[in-house]
Amino acid sequence: MTERELVISKEEIHSRVGQLGKIISKDYQGKKLVIVGVLNGAFVFLADLVRSISIPHQIDFVRVASYGESDKSSGVIRVSKDVELDMTDVDVLLVEDIVDTGTTLHWLQQHFLEKQAASVRVCAFIDKHERRVKKVSVDYKGFVVDIGFLVGYGLDYAEQYRHLQEVYSLQV
Ligand code: PRP
Repeated sequence: MTERELVISKEEIHSRVGQLGKIISKDYQGKKLVIVGVLNGAFVFLADLVRSISIPHQIDFVRVASYGESDKSSGVIRVSKDVELDMTDVDVLLVEDIVDTGTTLHWLQQHFLEKQAASVRVCAFIDKHERRVKKVSVDYKGFVVDIGFLVGYGLDYAEQYRHLQEVYSLQV
């Protein structure tokens, strides 16, 4: 088995996700909140986060892919599965498992503003700065991690490890 080192425990995750849910519930009180998960990685975080949010909201999903190049940091992104709800005049909260170079998020923020959303904010489970190339603001963040190849809690390596309840740094 590949070597891996624990970075965030399930207790820390549970506690932080609960806090984020409370903060989001307060901030979006009385607003038309639509939570948009960015597939695939965000599905685990989103599932826990929405169950800690106490105000009414809708949930939808988007998936992006890169054109030709395998590395999204090229900045050439397209939507491979778009949201199905009407985004006009709603308060969109994009939910990501990780913000790495920032390319995906930068592009998605524009995409939702073009759909005439009233506001577009971001909630990321992990804000990782090591490879950041686009300046993006993460409004709600679970954890800030500087370095490492992270897996678990939705984060994958070759589509594996997403099911782990903790976050690990993988020696690849
Ligand atoms: C990951 C992650 C973000 C994006 C962040 O998705 O879920 O969407 O990369 O990277 P960036 O800040 O450098 O743009 P990935 O393409 O690995 O797909 P996945 O969610 O299916 O794992």
